[in-house]
Amino acid sequence: MKKLTMTLLTLLATNGLQAQQTPVYLDETKPMEQRIDDALGRMTLDEKIAVIHAQSKFSSPGVKRLGFPDLWTDDGPHGVRPDVLWDEWVQAGQTNDSCVAFPALTCLAATWNPDLARLYGESLGEEALYRNKNVMLGPGVNILRTPLNGRNFEYMGEDPWLASRMVVPYVQGLQSKGVAACVKHYALNNDEEYRHQVNVIVSDRALHEIYLPAFKAAVQEGGAWAIMGAYNLYKNQHNCHNDIMLNKILKQDWGFDGVVISDWGGCHDTDEAVKNGLDLEFGTWTDGLTMGKTNAYDSYYLADAYKQGIKEGRYSMKELDEKVRRLLRLFYRTTMKREKPVGFLCSESHYEAALKIAQEGIVLLKNEAVKERRSQESGVRSREAAPLLPIDVTKTKRILVVGENAIKMMTVGGGSSSLKAQHEILPLDGIRARLNAQTSMLNAQCSNLNAQCSNLNAQCSNLNAQSPTLDYARGYVGDTVQSYNGVTVGRSLYETRSKEELISEAVAKAKEADVVIFFGGLNKSDHQDCEGHDRLSYDLPYAQNEVIEAILKVNPRLVYVNISGNGAALPWLDKVPAVVQAWFIGSEAGEAIASVLTGEVNPSGKLPFTWYASLDQCGAHATGSYPGTWRADHQIIDEEYKEGLFVGYRWIDKRKEESGKWKEESLPLFPFGYGLSYTTFKIGKATTDKSTMTADEAITVTIPVTNTGLRAGAETVQLYVHDVEASVERPYKELKAFSKVFLQPGETRQVSLTIDKRALSFYDDQTAQWTAEPGRFEALIGSSSGQIVSRCAFSLLPF
Ligand code: BGC
Repeated sequence: MKKLTMTLLTLLATNGLQAQQTPVYLDETKPMEQRIDDALGRMTLDEKIAVIHAQSKFSSPGVKRLGFPDLWTDDGPHGVRPDVLWDEWVQAGQTNDSCVAFPALTCLAATWNPDLARLYGESLGEEALYRNKNVMLGPGVNILRTPLNGRNFEYMGEDPWLASRMVVPYVQGLQSKGVAACVKHYALNNDEEYRHQVNVIVSDRALHEIYLPAFKAAVQEGGAWAIMGAYNLYKNQHNCHNDIMLNKILKQDWGFDGVVISDWGGCHDTDEAVKNGLDLEFGTWTDGLTMGKTNAYDSYYLADAYKQGIKEGRYSMKELDEKVRRLLRLFYRTTMKREKPVGFLCSESHYEAALKIAQEGIVLLKNEAVKERRSQESGVRSREAAPLLPIDVTKTKRILVVGENAIKMMTVGGGSSSLKAQHEILPLDGIRARLNAQTSMLNAQCSNLNAQCSNLNAQCSNLNAQSPTLDYARGYVGDTVQSYNGVTVGRSLYETRSKEELISEAVAKAKEADVVIFFGGLNKSDHQDCEGHDRLSYDLPYAQNEVIEAILKVNPRLVYVNISGNGAALPWLDKVPAVVQAWFIGSEAGEAIASVLTGEVNPSGKLPFTWYASLDQCGAHATGSYPGTWRADHQIIDEEYKEGLFVGYRWIDKRKEESGKWKEESLPLFPFGYGLSYTTFKIGKATTDKSTMTADEAITVTIPVTNTGLRAGAETVQLYVHDVEASVERPYKELKAFSKVFLQPGETRQVSLTIDKRALSFYDDQTAQWTAEPGRFEALIGSSSGQIVSRCAFSLLPF
C-alpha cells in the first residue's frame, strides 16, 4: 500500500511538472486570448517589432525563440502564385509551384452560386496548404464603378449584395483549411490609374451603401482573418494607415479582430502607420532594397523608425502590443494551428471545381435565330431559322475559329494575379477536342459497319464525309509577348502578316464555313484588363471590330465569344446572332467554353455588372468624375464620386426615372443580372406571406419558376427592393436576395426569398446608422435588373 501511494505521488508530481513545463502560449487547451497574453508577455521589443513588417517579398518572421514559424503570404485571388526570390520579383524557378488556375472572380460572381464560392475557397485553400502559404492575398471585392478599371476582373461586380453573398463563402471555405483570407483592397480602390495618388471623395451614404458592404460581410459574416489596405487615399490619408477606415470603421464599428496588411508599398509614414490601424507592413520599396543596405527591411516604416520612436518615448507600447496581439491571433489561426486538413496541389477535384465554376459563370448574352447556310458539299438547303447556339457538331461540317484570344494563355498576365498554371486548355484546343471526339465516334460507327458487311462501304464514306472540320484564322494581332513574370506561354503568338492580310485570310475562310466563332475581347496586357493602369478606351482593341465587320459581310453565322473581365462597346451587335461572355476562366478555359458552345453544358451565368453600350451610360463617366482632377502640385488627384449611390443599374434606373421612359439609345447593351439559357423559363406571379411586417419580422416572397423549354437548366430569380416613400433619395431598386434554381424540362419549383429590415434600410448620414423607415415598399422580382416580371407591395409598420 505504502509502495502504491509512493508511486501515485511520484506520478502526480511528474504530471504536475509537465503541466508546469507547458507554457500557456503553447497549451492548446487554453483559450486563444490567454495564450496571446502569455506570448506577448514573453516577447522582447525586437521580436515585437520584427513580426509587424516583412522580411522578404512575401514573408514576415514569426518568433523563432518561442516556436512561432514565419508567416508566408501569396497572391491570390485566382490560384497560388509561383514563388519569387527572397528580395526580388524574379521567379524563384521552383519546379513544384505550378497550380490550378481558377476562374477570375468576375466569373465566380457571374455564377450567382454561393456554393461554388465555398468550393472555390476550399479548393484554393488546399492548394495554398500544400504550398505552405498561410495568407492568401484575396479575394478582392472593390465595386465595379467604371468598366475601364484594369482590375475589375479580380473583383465581384457592381452590386454590394451580390459581392457580399459571394465573398462570405469564399472566405469561409478558404479559412476552413487554416489559410487566412486577406480581403482586398480596403477600400475605394475602384480604378488603377494613379492608384497611389487618387484621393477619393465620396458621400458617407455611397461609402456605406455601395463600397463597404462586401468588406463588412467578409469581416462580420465571413470572419476574415486579414484585410489589405488599399493604395489610394480617402480624406487625404492613405488607406493603409487611415484613421477613419481602419481604426473607426473596420476595427471599432465592425469589431474586426484580424490583421490589417498594407498593400505592397502602400505604407508611407511611420507616425500614421503606428497610430492609424496598420498591423503588418509589406512591400515597402525602401532605399535599402535598391541601395543594398545589409537589411533593407529594417528601413521599413514599422521597423527601426518605430523602435527608435518607442525608445525615445514618442510612442507608447500600447499601439505596438495591439498590433502584435493581432499578429499572434493570426499565428494561432494559421501557422500555429496543429490540426489542419491535408493540402494538395493540382488534384482532379481542383480541376473539377475550376471547370464547374467556369461552366456556371459563362454568360450567354445573345442567341438569335439565324438561317442555316446551304452547305455546298452536302447540298443541305437552308433550314428553318434556329438559334445559332448550341453548335450541333453532328450537323455542322465546317467550323472556323478566328481571333488571337482563341490561342492566347490568359492565366499569365494582368499583374499580381498572374499564375503558373500546370495546364491551361486554350479555346481552340477545347473546341478541337470536341470535334475530335465527334470524328472518333463516327469512325467507330464506320468500322462497325465495315465489320458487318463490305457493301456498307458507301454508308461508311457517307459517315466519314460527316466528320466536322475545324479551321483557324488569326484575324488580329494583340499581344505577342511570350513570357510574363518568368512564365513562358506555351504557344508562339509570333506573327508577321499585316492587318489586311489577316483580315483577308479570315474572310476567305469564313466564306466556306458553316459557323464562325470569333474569340476577342481584352487580354490582360497593359491597359487591357491589367493591374497598374486602366483601359484607355471602352472599344475593343487591335482592330477587332474591323475583322468582325469584314467577316459579317460574307458570313452572318458568327458567334462572338468575349474574353475579359469588363464590358466593351459592341458596335456590330445587331448583326451578330450569338454572343457569349467567357471571362478569364483559368486552367479549364477551353474545355468550359467548348462544352457551353456545343451544348453539353447549358449556360446559366448572369452578368455581375451592367454592360453599357457606351461610357456615357455609366455614372462615373456621365458625371465627368473619372479619373479626377490633379491638384496644382500634381502629387494628388482628387476623384469625387459625383454619381454617389448611383452605380451600375442604379444609375440606369435613375436616368430612366428622370426621363420618364426608356429611350432606346439609353439602354445598356445588357442589364445587370442578365443571362440567357438554351432553355426558357417562366417566372410566375410572386406572393408574400404577409402584407405588413414589423421591424423584428421577416417577409418571405414566393415565386413559381417553370422550365418551359426542352432542356434542363438553371434560372436565377432576383429580388430587388423598391422604397416607395423614402424621405431621402434612394436608388429606384436594389438587389436584396436571389436564388439559382435548377429545373428539369417542364418542372416548376416554388422559390422563396426572405428579407428583413436590413434589406429595407439606408445609411442615415445624419445619425451614422442604418435606418429602415416605416412605410410602403415593393419587392420586384425578375430574371435581371432589366426584366422585372412581378411586384409585391408590403409595408413596414411604425416601431
Ligand atoms: C497588389 C496586391 C497584391 C500585392 C502583392 C500589389 O501590387 O495591389 O493586390 O496582393 O501587390 O503581389
